[in-house]
Amino acid sequence: MPRTLKNCHNFTDLKDLAKRRLPGPLYHYIDGAAEDETTYRRNTESFMDVDLVPNVLAGVENIDMSVEVMGYKIDLPIFCSPTALQRLFHHQGERGVALAAEKFNTLFGVSSLGTVKLKDIDDLIKTPKMFQFYFHKDRALNDSMITMAQEANFEILTLTVDTITGGNRERDLKTGFTTPPKLTPKSIFEFASKPAWALNYFFREKFELSQLSSHVNEGTNIAISVGDYFSTMLDQSMTWDDVIKLKENWGRKFCLKGIMSASDARKAVEMKADAIMISNHGGRQLDGGRSPFDQLDEILQEVGGEIEVILDGGIQRGTHVLKAMAMGATACSGGRMYLFGLAAAGQKGVEKALGNMKIEIERDMKLMGVKNLKDLKPHMLRKRQFLA
Ligand SMILES: Cc1cc2nc3c(=O)[nH]c(=O)nc-3n(C[C@H](O)[C@H](O)[C@H](O)COP(=O)(O)O)c2cc1C
Repeated sequence: MPRTLKNCHNFTDLKDLAKRRLPGPLYHYIDGAAEDETTYRRNTESFMDVDLVPNVLAGVENIDMSVEVMGYKIDLPIFCSPTALQRLFHHQGERGVALAAEKFNTLFGVSSLGTVKLKDIDDLIKTPKMFQFYFHKDRALNDSMITMAQEANFEILTLTVDTITGGNRERDLKTGFTTPPKLTPKSIFEFASKPAWALNYFFREKFELSQLSSHVNEGTNIAISVGDYFSTMLDQSMTWDDVIKLKENWGRKFCLKGIMSASDARKAVEMKADAIMISNHGGRQLDGGRSPFDQLDEILQEVGGEIEVILDGGIQRGTHVLKAMAMGATACSGGRMYLFGLAAAGQKGVEKALGNMKIEIERDMKLMGVKNLKDLKPHMLRKRQFLA
């Protein structure tokens, strides 16, 4: 197990270091997924069923891995998906992730369940920012979040559509994880076993869900599990009509996160969304659901060229990004790929995660014989054949 960031050469090393530094319930909240976690595992395993076929002698001294996402040029083909509760994982939280993303000139998503005010993020970085929206029953809260994101100059609104009810995250049931963390004899023991984390959590800036705390106490002052938050606070009656109104209200770039079927991708095109994120929430919602990479081709067959298609989830290696790009994705995104870095060492840890990814993508592009990501084509992929 690596003891220092310097020795973290890949996703697994960062995950191991995060495990060393985090109280158990927090580590399991990040690493865990729904029920038997079959979808979570498949999200990464699906990349193993497709092989890359390289070309050689292509003059690859200088390569360009930039892509354009919703009108913004970013220097990496992968960005940081929105994730909740970041100041619980490291006291720098969203600030650390924002600064690391800016350093690599990539996109960064702030969750509705974020722990730093949107305005503070705007003051901190100049690169494009995405606000991830959860559609609440409380319409005043919805309006206030939209206004906050507009006033804080967020360029992109991403509506997550796969959390209509809470996923059955059994690791959290076992550990009793809530936001904010509840003080019980068991949790006090967990916190005491990671004193550096505990000192930062208890003696730095008070924990809050910054975008929500003026409207609801749940999550900031009243401990609740994330699953229960989704099930009780979000609006289960939400339909495409609500989404169309939300998009109009927002008036800037608009993305739907959690699209998995070709027919929903078609509806996203019809409502003129700018992008979709093919995602199953990192396997944290519907266990038994198909993986984004398995589903990418079917969705591209339906809407490729009509809307930007972002592959979200399961990515641990540069080759995973290359496989998605070769199939035709606009870009990729990931959660745990940078969250373990954040938990391991704050901003420096996220930089390490993005830096490792960048080095891998550069090396892999050269080994594939492509100077530009657009040179990656579906014919450079082969699906492995399995005997029935
Ligand atoms: C700890 C954690 C918290 C998350 N919080 C949110 C969230 O608040 N909003 C959201 O849309 N997705 C959330 N996600 C899902 C991520 O945006 C992304 O879809 C997922 O992490 C992709 O899978 P990966 O972790 O394998 O890359 C969260 C994921 C994790 C691991």
